[in-house]
Amino acid sequence: MFSLARPRRLRRTPVIREMVRETVLLPSDLVYPLFVRSGVGARVEISAMPGNYHFSVDRLVEEVGAASEEGVRSVLLFGVPDRKDEEASEAFRDEAPVPMAVRALKAAYSDLCVITDVCLCAYTSHGHCGVVKEGEVQNDPTLPILARVAVSHARAGADIVAPSDMMDGRVGAIREALDDAGYAGVAILSYAAKYASAFYGPFREAVASAPQFGDRRSYQMDPANSDEALVEVGLDLEEGADIVMVKPALSYLDVIRRVKDTYGVPLAAYNVSGEFAMLVAAADRGWIERERTILEILTSIRRAGADIILTYHAREAARLLR
Ligand code: PBG
Repeated sequence: MFSLARPRRLRRTPVIREMVRETVLLPSDLVYPLFVRSGVGARVEISAMPGNYHFSVDRLVEEVGAASEEGVRSVLLFGVPDRKDEEASEAFRDEAPVPMAVRALKAAYSDLCVITDVCLCAYTSHGHCGVVKEGEVQNDPTLPILARVAVSHARAGADIVAPSDMMDGRVGAIREALDDAGYAGVAILSYAAKYASAFYGPFREAVASAPQFGDRRSYQMDPANSDEALVEVGLDLEEGADIVMVKPALSYLDVIRRVKDTYGVPLAAYNVSGEFAMLVAAADRGWIERERTILEILTSIRRAGADIILTYHAREAARLLR
């Protein structure tokens, strides 16, 4: 005779299953990443990320309007600059695509949460996330530039800035610069545990940010490590991060859980471009069911402990969750 417990009793009807469901996924948990470029009337599909585009500001405003109607409440903006140089000067120009987009979105949709990615890799000719000297990515000389980028986004009206560069000390440098410039209310979402991952491939194609020499392993984390993620998160919190992020999400669900259990702070996870591309490619071949798989993946990231999920599926998922 087996135990008298029968877990199947609570799986018999949809209402009972819903009553005992532990994890709830809501459109308000999702952040929709978008790419903005210069020009007018532009909407150019990114080949490795079907359904994602480079938008000019006017077309971006249209896209976000449609997404908001479907329940998306928050966006993350990446800039696709016209020119790149050694100093990443397009990254902090007030008339560059990202600040222009922030101003336009905040003017059009007052309750939208606008987050901006703060990094140099899309803006540097060498494609690294920091200043390069003698073939090495320099940590401390990069910090004032990142701070300048963050302040330019805050000046445009960003609600949250999200540094993704992985330089040591950048959260503190950005916090101080924001406060000095009068933006004490702008929050920092730090890409705290960001791994040197193969899953960023499609994104690097999207913003042409693949490093021109070497790789990012001298600043992004070794995929083999998880104690180190706790160190990184601890430092960013000490420096003033309001939300911390683990990135990518799916190969790092254990890290998400450890960070949540250890710190109990608002936690984001980035369901990155390669994770998106794998799902879309398999669904297009009819090998998996697209919609069910999207919701299962996003639920698993929430279940692991993430409060917020950055995902290219945001618009579709919000629609499915209504
Ligand atoms: C820039 C940055 C990257 C991503 C977000 N910000 C790429 C990288 O580190 O090369 C990846 C996002 C994705 O793959 O969806 N530092």
